[in-house]
Amino acid sequence: MKTYQAAVIGGGPGGYIAAIQCAQRGLKTVLVEKRDLGGTCLNRGCIPTKTLLHGAEVYYEIKESKGLGIDITGEVGFKYKKMAKRKDKVVKQLRSGVEYLVSNHGADIVAGEAVLTGAHTFTVGEEEFEAEKIILAAGSAPAQIPIPGADQEGVLNSDSVLELTECPESVTIIGGGVIGVEFATLFADLGTPVTIVEMLPTILAGNDPDICSTMAYLLENKGVTIHVGAAVKEIRSDMSVVFEKDGETQETAPASNVIMAIGRRPQTAALNLAAAGVEATEKGFIPVNEYMQTNVENIYAIGDITGKVQLAHVATAQGVIAADHAAGIARAMDYSAVPGCIYTSPEIACVGLTEEKAKEAGRDVKVGQFNLSGNGRSLAVNSADGFVKLIADAQTDEIIGCHIIGPYATEMIGEATVAIQNKLTAEQLGNTIHAHPTVSESIMEAAHDIHGLCCHKA
Ligand code: FAD
Ligand code: NAI
Repeated sequence: MKTYQAAVIGGGPGGYIAAIQCAQRGLKTVLVEKRDLGGTCLNRGCIPTKTLLHGAEVYYEIKESKGLGIDITGEVGFKYKKMAKRKDKVVKQLRSGVEYLVSNHGADIVAGEAVLTGAHTFTVGEEEFEAEKIILAAGSAPAQIPIPGADQEGVLNSDSVLELTECPESVTIIGGGVIGVEFATLFADLGTPVTIVEMLPTILAGNDPDICSTMAYLLENKGVTIHVGAAVKEIRSDMSVVFEKDGETQETAPASNVIMAIGRRPQTAALNLAAAGVEATEKGFIPVNEYMQTNVENIYAIGDITGKVQLAHVATAQGVIAADHAAGIARAMDYSAVPGCIYTSPEIACVGLTEEKAKEAGRDVKVGQFNLSGNGRSLAVNSADGFVKLIADAQTDEIIGCHIIGPYATEMIGEATVAIQNKLTAEQLGNTIHAHPTVSESIMEAAHDIHGLCCHKA
């Protein structure tokens, strides 16, 4: 039996950071990973998708660059195989970095599947382990809807799309959430006909409604067909998707592939939670308190398996909270300023409450908006279709939400996140000098707009 002070099960962005943090806090630590270090995010999520999206965006921009005065003679093309190879290279480089970091911080790495045998014990294959504290970080996998045709060859999920070495000739995407819309952007930019079928009344539901409608408009302008309010019933062998909308049965055109992007399920079944007495919901998510403890005091759960917010940076933040608590440092997890980024073109980034959610919570709000058509940098970089929307509490002037669609949105959201986390007011944000010309000036302009003092708005 190998004994440790801390054991982390799952080496994704939650688990590997938790293991490093445990080791940094002086705990004798082991990290168990059954597949690849870096988890979904590094191997089948954040990094491969953004690497492919960058290539597709560059291709699209070059094709559309006549308006910038660029004269290209001959056809602009792309080799998907090479794009996929570059994606693999980026992933491999980062993966070896993770392995180096974990071992260099002094944590042991064990390859294999961990199965709990008690509140302090687990096995990996034949080997037995004992640990004072156990952090579960098993992550999630693509969910599937049980409809006829869902198991056919040609029906892909986010994992199998990323294994393609040829660009599909046409795709229908079931689910217009974050994954669906990012893959729609990727393939539309590469010139592949794309159709999205979404059950709810809008794509990217839950985001600011003006952002949803702007993105739908921009995708449709690129030739993407979007069906909303459409409940999928069947996938036919020609990859046409049958759906019900407004009481009528309709179907999409045949496609070379269908991509199912309808959410993710927790990977808790193989952990044998019952042996340790850890409770989970019917869907398999593990409830936790503010220190990431499960109902069993010495066992923590972090990341996608908690069913809180399925984002890499949330998994990481939860990992640090759990590791610190395991080492005797109690700091509660705070979800009030979690940025969410969507890597469309232009990008979308949000933090805090939408106007709708703030009102639902009974808050009296003031809203400031600045459209990027009035921003010099956005026009200079040929991407002025978006806006910045700031939500402030009407009584205290505190910033409680920021919603951006526009170039560099995912980089700009950090400013609003710091503002919300530190309870800054719209006045403080507006009084901060922003560099010119930058898109981030629009955050300052939106802050001025909250007080009716925006100079660049008529
Ligand atoms: P995971 O990353 O899923 O890692 C869990 C690890 O645990 C896996 O490696 C698994 O093999 C291992 N494991 C499971 N069970 C066991 C066991 N019993 N024993 C040993 N090992 C085990 N989030 C963002 O913030 N930004 C993005 O841009 C983004 N893009 C995404 C794009 C796609 C296509 C997808 C699918 C997801 C994306 N996400 C993004 C979400 C992000 O990947 C997840 O929120 C994040 O990876 C969750 O981290 P985690 O540590 O909880 O779990
Ligand atoms: P999601 O929850 O964002 O979207 C799933 C969509 O599918 C929803 O809009 C839902 O209404 C729709 N849907 C479900 N069943 C359907 C049906 N039968 N017919 C038609 N539509 C149906 O989940 P998604 O896109 O799979 O992403 C999973 C998670 O991964 C997200 O929670 C997100 O946090 C994370 N992620 C984050 C990214 C980022 O931060 N940039 C990128 C990709 C994923």
